[in-house]
Amino acid sequence: MMNLIDDLHKNKDLPDAQLKEIIESDECEQELFEKADGIRQSYYGTDIYIRGLIEFTNYCKNNCYYCGIRRENKKVKRYRLGKDEILSCCKQGYALGFRTFVLQGGEDGAFSDELICDIVSKIKTLYPDCAVTLSLGEKSHDSYNAYFKAGADRYLLRHETANAEHYRALHPDSMSLENRKKCLWDLKEIGYAVGSGFMVGSPYQTTECLIDDLRFLQELQPDMVGIGPYISHKNTPFSDHKNGDLHLCLRLIAIIRLMFPDALIPATTALGTIDKRGRELGLTAGANVVMPNLSPVNVRKQYELYDNKICVYEGAAQCRGCLENRVASVGYHMVTNIGNKNSAKKYV
Ligand code: 5AD
Ligand code: FES
Repeated sequence: MMNLIDDLHKNKDLPDAQLKEIIESDECEQELFEKADGIRQSYYGTDIYIRGLIEFTNYCKNNCYYCGIRRENKKVKRYRLGKDEILSCCKQGYALGFRTFVLQGGEDGAFSDELICDIVSKIKTLYPDCAVTLSLGEKSHDSYNAYFKAGADRYLLRHETANAEHYRALHPDSMSLENRKKCLWDLKEIGYAVGSGFMVGSPYQTTECLIDDLRFLQELQPDMVGIGPYISHKNTPFSDHKNGDLHLCLRLIAIIRLMFPDALIPATTALGTIDKRGRELGLTAGANVVMPNLSPVNVRKQYELYDNKICVYEGAAQCRGCLENRVASVGYHMVTNIGNKNSAKKYV
């Protein structure tokens, strides 16, 4: 097993059969985490980047079987933030040291391209030293292009699963893996820094699906890779499925760090939800980004993608402070620079 870890480190790749062994076995897990942590340190030192997350709408036209804000969940109270509310989140975030704002939402037709462009360009005018990341789902090439021209720098769109059959099991027929991938290629071609990723332990996922995910990431070469455990939500068709496994998720973070040494990898909120120390463990397994919530507290509870999501009652300053302490507790330092992938520098 140690040889496999060394090979993965050296070659940034392994044949499927060996990847399967590392994914499935918890033997030598600590060594895997330490190796990944060392690589992260060699590129990023002890720096952990922060992104301010603004969940600006929980309306969504899609119906993904795993997601708590799916269209057919009639129990969720829907909300949209107005432009001024979004700008006020940015203002508060800027004062707290945030230099990246992530606007994340469901696929909500009420936000026209014009409105998105208007919001993006306003943020960029007010805070020219900040990056704007969008995470609004699948759009046309033209729409992505318009947002980019308006000043958006990065886009997050998890592929969710790169296995076509598995994709089918997680999504209704109105969605397709093919279009998902097309969106990611469009985003890259336009010039965005692209983040993709997947859920770990989603219903019907096999190790082969996870290997497909890693192979797809090798093709795509994204700047960011966001992964987190699947967590079931009571008002979805998957409410009876079990949650993803913390340790499997940590191993995948470490494997992704070894395969993509300078990638931006968040220790996600979902990781912090399945385990109190999940995000800290994520950092020690190779993650280098945290995403405190900047959304107004009165809407947070409604952006519930999965049950028991953390940070629902804490304000922006509280989340930032909480995460700063958590980051420090495992020996790293939260930094407030813009945190691009190309700020990765060799420390050794
Ligand atoms: N459990 C964990 N992650 C989820 N997401 C959506 N629903 C769930 C869930 N039940 C993730 C998806 C999406 C991201 C915003 O949240 O991967 O891309
Ligand atoms: Fe939100 Fe800890 S990060 S309360």
